[in-house]
Amino acid sequence: MSHPLLEKVRAAQQGNPLIYGLAFGILLAVVLNIMPLLNARAKKRWMPERKNVLITGGSQGLGLALAELLASKGANVTIVARNVDKLEQALEKIKKASASPKTQSHAYISADVSTFNGAKQAVKKCSQVPDTLFCCAGGAKPGHFLEQEEQDFEMGLKMDYWTALASTHATARAMREAGVEGKIVLVSSLVGLFGLVGYSQYAPMKYAIRGLAETLRSEFLLYNITVHCYFPATILSPGFETEQLTKPHVLKEIEKSDVPQTPAVCAARLLQGVQKGHFFITSDWQTDLFRAATGGVAPGNGCFMDFCKSRLGRIALPIWRIFEADAIVKKHRTEAPTSTPGASSS
Ligand SMILES: *[C@@H]1O[C@H](CO)[C@@H](O)[C@H](O)[C@H]1NC(C)=O
Ligand SMILES: *[C@@H]1O[C@H](CO)[C@@H](O)[C@H](O)[C@H]1NC(C)=O
Repeated sequence: MSHPLLEKVRAAQQGNPLIYGLAFGILLAVVLNIMPLLNARAKKRWMPERKNVLITGGSQGLGLALAELLASKGANVTIVARNVDKLEQALEKIKKASASPKTQSHAYISADVSTFNGAKQAVKKCSQVPDTLFCCAGGAKPGHFLEQEEQDFEMGLKMDYWTALASTHATARAMREAGVEGKIVLVSSLVGLFGLVGYSQYAPMKYAIRGLAETLRSEFLLYNITVHCYFPATILSPGFETEQLTKPHVLKEIEKSDVPQTPAVCAARLLQGVQKGHFFITSDWQTDLFRAATGGVAPGNGCFMDFCKSRLGRIALPIWRIFEADAIVKKHRTEAPTSTPGASSS
């Protein structure tokens, strides 16, 4: 009693391995995409309640927004930075945001965590061993490579890579010592996924942080400490305003099409990523294309979507680079300095 049209389709299908191949491919992709989701659901979602969170760079920008968000969801939050005035103001905000100020405790530690000793002392001052570390400290001093001096590169190394390294090292040691199966979240950047004019003292450090995250994700399986790496694009923070002061015109023009996000939005997306169990976390779709296209063999965020995004990224991003980024750089050739003042070879 079947319809003649159906018969025809069936007959056509029997003779067409392509259709079976295609159907099998789609089915496989769907299954592969759903499996990690089911796994992630089965594993326990990370919840801020009853967590002891340490946040470096917690007195402003992303770090502060994250501190407020996690406090509002029940975590005990300790922030670390150097400037006591800023820390005090930040702590007030965190207390205000707190879900139940009576049962949660929040504190600040004034420390320079860009050295191993400084980071060790800071972790020691925590009232309890942190079970979660967010490394939000960092900053850029954009400029033309040939115009920058040794101290600019050294500053990038210290402020970005070394700070993340030292705080992670000290906290992970304390976690292991206390038998805490914790979590460490490193903050890289969109320019930790591709290099761009003007960021030579910053982008390589963000690549290094990504490398550290990949290494420790593997190594910390030994201790059940989980690692994530966050790649924000432009964040409307005090750090961003400082960057604007030295940013070359050419870089400003390339970033003109960029839509900056507020620290609060970034903090919310970062928390979402952590809760979804994503290893590489992004907070906008453009950065996510870069992530998927350059992710290598790091754990992805869903097989099927990552496959589609990486194909799309491999096509769309080089087009953007050629017709947008590189074209703008070439347009600015005439205004690039031709010599370094005070650096003549006499
Ligand atoms: C958070 O702080 C409160 C108050 O000091 C304390 O009773 C509680 O045990 C802390 N929570 C965690 C997870 O350490
Ligand atoms: C890590 O977790 C696994 C599975 O839950 C457990 O069997 C193992 O003892 C833990 N290892 C350490 C070093 O805590």
